[in-house]
Amino acid sequence: MEQSSTPTRPQLRLVIVGHVDHGKSTLIGRLLHDTGSLPEGKLEEIRAVSERRGMPLEWSFVLDSFQSERDQAITIDTTQIWFRTKTREVVIIDAPGHREFLKNMISGAALADAAVLVVDAVEGLREQTRRHAYLLHLLGLSRVAVAVNKMDMADFARDRYEEVAKEVRDYLAGIGVEPVAVIPLSARHGDNMAERSDRMPWYQGPTLLETLDAFERAPSPVDRPLRLPIQDVYRHDERRILVGRIETGTLSVGDTLVFSPSNRSARVTSLEAWEAPVPTIAIAGQSVGFTLDEPIFVERGDIASHATSAPMLSTVFRANLFWLGQRPLEVGATYKLKLATREARVTVQSIERITDTQTLGTAGKTAVERNDVAEVVLRSREMLALDEHRGNPATGRCVLVEGYDIVGGGIISMEGYPDQRRLLTARSENLTQVEHILSADTRAWRNGHKGAILWLTGLSGAGKSTLAMQLEQRLFARGAQVYVLDGDNVRRGLNADLGFAPEDRAENIRRVGEVAALFADAGMIVISAFISPYAADRARARAAAPGSFHEIHVKADLSTCEARDPKGLYKKARAGEIAEFTGISSPYEPPESPELVVDTAAEDVEACLARIIAYLEQRVLLGTAPDVQI
Ligand code: ADX
Repeated sequence: MEQSSTPTRPQLRLVIVGHVDHGKSTLIGRLLHDTGSLPEGKLEEIRAVSERRGMPLEWSFVLDSFQSERDQAITIDTTQIWFRTKTREVVIIDAPGHREFLKNMISGAALADAAVLVVDAVEGLREQTRRHAYLLHLLGLSRVAVAVNKMDMADFARDRYEEVAKEVRDYLAGIGVEPVAVIPLSARHGDNMAERSDRMPWYQGPTLLETLDAFERAPSPVDRPLRLPIQDVYRHDERRILVGRIETGTLSVGDTLVFSPSNRSARVTSLEAWEAPVPTIAIAGQSVGFTLDEPIFVERGDIASHATSAPMLSTVFRANLFWLGQRPLEVGATYKLKLATREARVTVQSIERITDTQTLGTAGKTAVERNDVAEVVLRSREMLALDEHRGNPATGRCVLVEGYDIVGGGIISMEGYPDQRRLLTARSENLTQVEHILSADTRAWRNGHKGAILWLTGLSGAGKSTLAMQLEQRLFARGAQVYVLDGDNVRRGLNADLGFAPEDRAENIRRVGEVAALFADAGMIVISAFISPYAADRARARAAAPGSFHEIHVKADLSTCEARDPKGLYKKARAGEIAEFTGISSPYEPPESPELVVDTAAEDVEACLARIIAYLEQRVLLGTAPDVQI
């Protein structure tokens, strides 16, 4: 088992960002020197190189020399540079100017506690300053200090500092970030780095090192719920060993783990190690091997957690993506999603909002281009285990890959979408199905039609209830056994305990789907009129009544429904009086391949009914008069 080094002093994982040439490398070189962290002889080496090139002492050569050492010796950690302040160990988790910087930030290779944003005092904010700052914000990094660098080139002028400080504060305020300090400094000369500068007596705030010392620490990943993405499953001497790195939380022998997305559970019987003593507990940051008491199916990509705090399960989610692709992100396009150790194909279902990271504007953009940020809805065929980023930054992020390139990455939110775990968890055991003696054919013979579910789905105001009631009357007149299940009615009784939160809607449709399946099994035609906004719920309802489920999309665009507003609910929703209103503040996923579509904006009620009845005559009604004398 690989043990991560446990530092004796608190550590701060720091990322240093900013526009090219604003002085990130110099700042790091100088920090290492001022904290006495340069290896023996390094200063002399840098001084000699600088002299040879006829330049004053060039601190950024420190990083260049580390880089060339790394290039020669692959054993040296490529991304981590350590230094010590008075109170803590600081690890700079990415070399500045690194070509892959944005990708590293996005993919979580650089999961930082705090950031320093470097801005050139002469140039002020530039494109990458804004882009990097936005990325920090997107990734939830709120501990940010700003270094207004190269104050020596700006004559240490207070006015200039204040101009730049205002510019940077204004931008950060626009994305909701408040820097802990905006420090005027000169990395090259050391002003306000470790020592207070006597060339800027007008500045009363902390030096850069004082700021690093004072950064509040991020909550420890050990204190979060267990997330252990499975990397591999090995067989060894008849035993099966699961291997992965604990991202957050704690794992102990004896724990009952639930594996997602399969939702199966087993107990940990042992942790494995090459050397004695074999531990019985492991924590975030450690890679572990472990065994289970049951041979449940587990594969790479699964996430192990405790049952009480498992990740969510869904086939659809929102991502706030930073887009790096050469080609724009498009609705309908498919990408490879990487989510911890899981890889899955996802399709862009919709683009909800595009933000230009320079202007912070959202208006007028129709394509998501390189360096834009977009809120998108992604859908996968398979069930995914997901965490929201605000709940767990370590696992609440994802990356999109096209070919071999990372084209985007960002954070996950489930806003508007239900966790499907509860719907997938069966609680009853020891059941034996009892067979009816009466067959479906016998029932159909007497009724003159097959048992069927006409599942009407569509926005509120699309016309589901109107069509359903008319249809019920006409089918009844033809002798059919028919009944309407309508959302507003069923929600007064069977589903009176449910509201309109995503989980409640999912449960609403689960119950209705099951009731409808019973009606259909009883040989009746049941017409259901529910918004049923989620494709996954409708798919489950279909699965409950295989062969009898007929999905009818009652289609009308939002503006038509809103203009009709039969119950005055759209008006209320627009006024903010109804939360999570479908089409306005809650999603509707139109069916991809329904059996029938009726467009109530284009066709009148009669025309829609005629088409539905024509469909039923082919698929459900038997055409012979029922013989009731059985
Ligand atoms: S569903 O989304 O769970 O399928 P359902 O069809 O049962 O919804 O109920 C929709 C009806 O509830 C609407 O026709 C409307 O009258 C009422 N309603 C009340 N609040 C909402 C809301 N937030 N979103 C949609 N419909 C709502």
